[in-house]
Amino acid sequence: MDHPNLTPNEKEQLKRDALAHIIPHFASNEELAKGPKIFTRGEGCYLYDIDGKKYLDTFASLLTTICGHHRPEVAEAIQKQLGQLEFFPNYVDTFTLPLIELARKLADIMPGDLSVGFFVNSGSEANETAIKMARQYHRQRGEPGRWKVVARRNSYHATTLGGTSATGLAWFREYFEPLIPGNVFAPPASCNNCELERELETCGLACLKAMEKLIEWEGPQSVSAVIMDPIPGSNTGYPLPPPGYLRGVRDLCDRHGILLIFDEVQTGFGKTGKWFACEHWNVVPDIMTIGKGFTGGYIPLAATVTTLKVAEQFRKGRGTEFRSGGTYGGHTIACAATLANIKIIADNNLVERAASMGEYVKSELDKLHEFAIVGDIRGIGLLWAVELMADPNAKKKFDPGIGIGSWIRDYCWENGMILRNNGDILVIAPALVISREAVDVMLNLMREAIEKAIEHFKL
Ligand SMILES: Cc1ncc(COP(=O)(O)O)c(C=O)c1O
Repeated sequence: MDHPNLTPNEKEQLKRDALAHIIPHFASNEELAKGPKIFTRGEGCYLYDIDGKKYLDTFASLLTTICGHHRPEVAEAIQKQLGQLEFFPNYVDTFTLPLIELARKLADIMPGDLSVGFFVNSGSEANETAIKMARQYHRQRGEPGRWKVVARRNSYHATTLGGTSATGLAWFREYFEPLIPGNVFAPPASCNNCELERELETCGLACLKAMEKLIEWEGPQSVSAVIMDPIPGSNTGYPLPPPGYLRGVRDLCDRHGILLIFDEVQTGFGKTGKWFACEHWNVVPDIMTIGKGFTGGYIPLAATVTTLKVAEQFRKGRGTEFRSGGTYGGHTIACAATLANIKIIADNNLVERAASMGEYVKSELDKLHEFAIVGDIRGIGLLWAVELMADPNAKKKFDPGIGIGSWIRDYCWENGMILRNNGDILVIAPALVISREAVDVMLNLMREAIEKAIEHFKL
């Protein structure tokens, strides 16, 4: 495809109009002041901006385009479906063929007996739905007093008000308080930065015990669900759960009749080297939410997938149906595109590839420890985080005002690479199709950027 042939004046006008007429999601006025970044084309793991400059995307378009941009198989599937039926809603009693096929496929690939899906448009809606589903499930079982949700500090679940209320990061919550009542927070299981100031070797899973105490304090009969991301996302840089933790949460929920919701919006579809992150620990939730990489980035689609045990509560006759819905949930074309995306993952063994490429990425990232400012390196599969610290041995962070992580991100951008940072946590989560050569480019540029930052900040 040719690059759009725009004059310098037209480009400037586009930039002005972008700033004037659009509020970007989670906008940064500081970044916008440097000028909007406008993309016009994508190919595999690469993007091109309005000036034709090429960028290696190490964050897969916000963790979505896991099979790369511009896949003809997906375009063909969309085209074929467009020729038959572009859309009919999944409403009351109506279905479409791609939706049924996709639901069958999910029942096949998802762990345990997660086999009944409710289809929505975003990860936020999927989590919102999961919370509603848990509440109605208990109500139907004769326990309407189970309305609270146990979530974890530091986890992100949604931008909607319900999901924001279950999100444990102050930045997402503070402008919208008071939030929806009934969300209570347990400590995260982040051994790299343990909130309880314990050491893994001797802690006896203190974070799990704290969750148990919280549930006992709230009254188990008042709790509908525990919601958590089995591996927390890019905001905190993929801290892996300690051995026994997820199993412990599962047992805790079972003991108290609480539903366990796993938010795999970020970690699903092969990024961790298994189809779903929870499979690394053989723990299956009662409800799993999926989004982002699910569609490969083509057309929005997400889902709340549950077990027969939960679903049967909504199939007991008039009035028991799950009372939630939206016009476009399970969009026909989105389902066709998503089926094609899942087929690419399966046919090309991309899940196994993420595991083996991840081993290589880990071995190369570990070499960054030669720099005194490189603290924790953590992750799994193709989800990795490098945390920069003033003193890694003492776990002392840099003053956030220095902005080392952002400086490194900007250096990479100048040199043709999109790198995500959250403060001084550098995050990489490339597409599953990334080539070994591109991985080397990514790692070399990261290393170079860290070296330059050390020079620049005289560290
Ligand atoms: C773990 C997790 N859950 C939920 C969401 C919300 O998904 P969406 O942005 O599609 O609404 C995100 C998005 O970043 C996420 O990372």
